[in-house]
Amino acid sequence: MSKIKNIGILTSGGDSPGMNCAIRSAVRTALFNKINIFGIYRGYSGLLANEIKPLTASSVGNIIQRGGTILQSSRCPEFFEAKSRKMAKEIMDLNKLDGLIVIGGDGSFNGAHLFNIESGIPVIGIPGTIDNDISNTEYTIGFDTALSTAIEAVDKIRDTASSHARTFIIEVMGRNSSGIATHVGVCTGAENIVLPGVETDYDQIVSDINRGISRGKNSSILIVAEGTVPGRSYEIQKNLKEKYNLKAHLCILGHIQRGGSPSPIDRFRASVMGNMAVKALIEGKTSHATIYKDGQIALTELTNCLEKKNDAKPEILDLAKTLSI
Ligand code: F6P
Repeated sequence: MSKIKNIGILTSGGDSPGMNCAIRSAVRTALFNKINIFGIYRGYSGLLANEIKPLTASSVGNIIQRGGTILQSSRCPEFFEAKSRKMAKEIMDLNKLDGLIVIGGDGSFNGAHLFNIESGIPVIGIPGTIDNDISNTEYTIGFDTALSTAIEAVDKIRDTASSHARTFIIEVMGRNSSGIATHVGVCTGAENIVLPGVETDYDQIVSDINRGISRGKNSSILIVAEGTVPGRSYEIQKNLKEKYNLKAHLCILGHIQRGGSPSPIDRFRASVMGNMAVKALIEGKTSHATIYKDGQIALTELTNCLEKKNDAKPEILDLAKTLSI
């Protein structure tokens, strides 16, 4: 018999398509196993404000296809203070919650880890962020849908770029992770990709564009990973104009990449992960995360997933370069 009776579930950090699939799966798995499950609204901020309500099988009906998160989300820097986590433990106790599922990115996982150590309450993390930047998992919920959205947008820009023989700089999300930029670059035949934290090689960019033009290309796309400060593309655009007399149009895709109906991959993996998270609590796991590795969804210690990863795979960059000659 499981000792767990009442699970709390929250979504934290930037929302991502597929979070609702994981919530639905966790809720229905808990109820199927006669365990109560409570939605904690607005992430850790809502936990600290005691915004907690019971979830039923029907409260997660008709959400599998919806982007965003029905539980809403927040970024909550206060949760990195011990006094806030102490208050969170008191609120968990008040609501008789004896297990916690956190769907979010590495920051949310770090908060969950500290909370578990200090409170003794079991926590299971489910990786949910479009950035695909959590260590030890090859995939995070929302990455696949964000790629589809960004690729569709770049394809549309390519249409107009070709019609007018233009160069476009397109900035994609991902903070310090290269995952979205490299995948979008390969999938759209981008002429160049600028990674986060890497100095922009203007000579290379200009020579790649000119080589393309001389072999008859009538458009060029430069994918820029946003890095720490979104909007870095403006400086790239300015330098290309001022130092190389190269005029480039600019488009920052922004939050459009975070919305939309989840892809089949995001729906499926999120459904498996939500189910696995509840089963892990039932089996007595105390600090774990669901991950995707070598084609399998599995559990690992939460401590394996606390680092950020950049995901800048040189072989993907080489591929993009080779294919865009
Ligand atoms: O973490 C997901 C993400 O969309 C990043 O790619 C981006 O840098 C950041 O969130 C934007 O955060 P916010 O919506 O809080 O501005």
